[in-house]
Formats: sequence, C-alpha cells, structure tokens
Amino acid sequence: MRLADKVIIVTGASSGIGAAAARLFAAEGAAVVLGARRAERLEALSTEIVADGGRAVWVAGDVREADVAVALVARAEAAFGGLDGAFNNAGTVGEMAPVADITPGTWREVQDTNLTAAFLNARAQLPALQARGGGALVFTSSFVGMTVGLPGMGAYAAAKAGLMGLAQVIAAEYGAEGIRANCLMPGGTRTEMAGDDPEFHRFVEGLHALKRMAAPEEIAEVALFLLSDAASFVTGGGLFADGGNSICKT
Ligand SMILES: NC(=O)c1ccc[n+]([C@@H]2O[C@H](COP(=O)([O-])OP(=O)(O)OC[C@H]3O[C@@H](n4cnc5c(N)ncnc54)[C@H](OP(=O)(O)O)[C@@H]3O)[C@@H](O)[C@H]2O)c1
Repeated sequence: MRLADKVIIVTGASSGIGAAAARLFAAEGAAVVLGARRAERLEALSTEIVADGGRAVWVAGDVREADVAVALVARAEAAFGGLDGAFNNAGTVGEMAPVADITPGTWREVQDTNLTAAFLNARAQLPALQARGGGALVFTSSFVGMTVGLPGMGAYAAAKAGLMGLAQVIAAEYGAEGIRANCLMPGGTRTEMAGDDPEFHRFVEGLHALKRMAAPEEIAEVALFLLSDAASFVTGGGLFADGGNSICKT
C-alpha cells in the first residue's frame, strides 16, 4: 500500500496513462479524484475502482478551465477530507505541422491543454497541500521537448519543456513546506494518443533502446513512485521513463 491514506487528483484519467495510474493508485490505497472531459469514461472507471474495493470520485470538465481545477480540489476535500497530491497528466499533441505552418489557434490549444492547465491545477492544488502540511505534484511532460526535437511537434515540445520550468519553481517556492514537484517524461506509450497505425508504432518502437513502446501501466508505476513517500527527497527534477529513447542512436 504505497499510497495508503493519500488523496490524489488524476487529470487525463479517462484513458491511457491517467486511467492506468488511477487504477494503480487506488489499488495502492489512495482515494482518487478523476478528471477529464468524457464523463461516461470517468463514471465507468470510478465504478470499477469502487467495485474493486477502492475509493474514487470524478469531476468531468475541460482541464483548460480554472473553475474545473478548483472543482477537482473541492471534490477531494468534500469526499475525502483534503488533498495529498496530484498527477497533472492531461495532454494533447494537437494538429502536427512544421513550425511555420502551426496556426496560432493550434499553438494556443496545445499550450492551454498541456502547460496552462498544469499551472491552473497547481494553483488550485497548492493551498490544499499547504493546509495538509505537505504533498507532491507530478506533471506529465515527455521526451519530446526535453531531449528530442521530433518534427511536427513544435507546440507540444514547447509546452512539455515548459512544465519542467514550472515544476522547478514550485519545488523551490514550496519545498520548505514539505511540498515536492516533479516532471515525468514517458517514452512512446500505447494509448489513444499514439493511435493504432502499425507503421507509426514500428517507427516509434525503433526510437527506443528497448525497441518497444511502453504499456500505460509501466508509466503509472513511475508516477506512483514520484507521488509516494519513497520519493521523499526527490523534487524539482524530471524522471525519464522512456525506454532509453533519450540516449538511443541506433
Ligand atoms: N502516449 C505517449 O506516447 C506519450 C508520450 C509522452 C508523454 N505523453 C503524455 O502523457 C499524458 C497522457 O497521455 P496518454 O498517452 O495517456 O493519451 P490519451 O489516452 O489520449 O489521454 C489523454 C488524456 O488527457 C485528457 N484530456 C485531453 N484534453 C483535455 C482537456 N481539454 N480537458 C480535460 N482533459 C483532457 C483526455 O481526456 P478527455 O478526452 O476525456 O478529456 C485523456 O484522459 C499526456 O500529457 C501526454 O502528452 C504521452
């Protein structure tokens, strides 16, 4: 029970890495508060977790809205009495294009969903963590923007790199209060975001030292570590779970 008695928000919980993380966190003793837009997915996952003996509630809404971030924290406090951590994980690649062809609308959508949403959520979560006397925030970044410049992903890379700056400053500002902040950098992971084109999957697999993509459950394990007390001296950094993508030139 690596998250026993902790209350954790998970954004992007309706699929992929977020859904796997919600299942794992609940199985490890956390009460989870699930966020995403697709209410039916959140309701089904919440029902599944409760049927398995866990604790889960959900709030459907757009992660780009400040009110939704506030509502997630309010739900955590109302249902479970407080907040101990958050996996700020929702994200989108947006329409891919070379930088000169990225529309301002796509740029804003990708920044808003990946970066501004992380700020809005952290802004709502930090006072709740302070009230609890400490806690942990984890932001889902990517190898893209940190160590690899994948063509077509300029907006996404900028947003994901920005998360590292945000995590570092939160770590510095709130560390004395027992609050930790870190980024998690997954490699290619088999989720809706990665699609189901076998040719694309083969290309992505080849980028990794392990020559395969991750299962969402493998990334969830790393988020669990960063949120748990096992990572009690880990803050202000980024942890790659990228199958060796960043160091691989073969
Ligand atoms: N898959 C990869 O290869 C990979 C690699 C590195 C990093 N990542 C990052 O990992 C995170 C999770 O992605 P995934 O791979 O698990 O993909 P996914 O299955 O497509 O999940 C994305 C999640 O984000 C939520 N989301 C997207 N836009 C949202 C919005 N405007 N408001 C609220 N929720 C929103 C989606 O929920 P709704 O659509 O229901 O709102 C969904 O739950 C993302 O930050 C992604 O950038 C993924």
